Amino acid sequence: MKINEIIFASHNAGKIAEIRQLLQPLNIKVISAAEIELPDVEETGTTFAENSLLKSQTIAKIIGKPCIADDSGLCVDALNGAPGVYSARYAPNRDFDKGMDKLLAEMAASGNASRKAHFSCVISLAYPDGHSQLFEGRVDGKIAPQKMPGADGFGYDPLFVPDGYERSFAQMSKTEKSAISHRGRAMQKLITYLSSL
Ligand code: IMP
Repeated sequence: MKINEIIFASHNAGKIAEIRQLLQPLNIKVISAAEIELPDVEETGTTFAENSLLKSQTIAKIIGKPCIADDSGLCVDALNGAPGVYSARYAPNRDFDKGMDKLLAEMAASGNASRKAHFSCVISLAYPDGHSQLFEGRVDGKIAPQKMPGADGFGYDPLFVPDGYERSFAQMSKTEKSAISHRGRAMQKLITYLSSL
């Protein structure tokens, strides 16, 4: 059955803006958790899929409407995949400027053997009856030696340079970033699925 309205279980303004833009062509209205004053769901899982499902299934059950959630993060090779599922909490007081300084310092302490990193994203779509679907995306790249801020972006964007580019995610427009990003790729899979309904 076609979905016309979907809850997005996130309070992250950057993600909400990206997802709204991506679902616009499908005429699907995106309502964020913040707009309907839903609580933040605690991310107690140890994988992106687990955390994503925790959020979408909890909210779909409360509201009685299909709900999407994403869990994403930055995995750095030199830090054995950290901060990974802990990407949001890794930044002191969720201050990503400080989080990026911490990341650069930990990479330097590790000897900077590799600058390779990737962003991962798992989007889940949960229905009120309990069933769900997962859509995964990943983008590989490297951590810049220093922040490369731009007009756009959020989180660790100023530090991440995708493979094949010399600019950071923060130096790209939302459209340019979404075409290659972890969330954009997972969203393309979600869009293909939603279009088939
Ligand atoms: P969560 O998925 O809400 O748990 O948050 C994951 C964290 O990973 C975010 O708060 C950001 O710090 C980081 N992150 C996820 N996706 C991106 C992105 O596209 N750019 C920059 N940082 C991101």
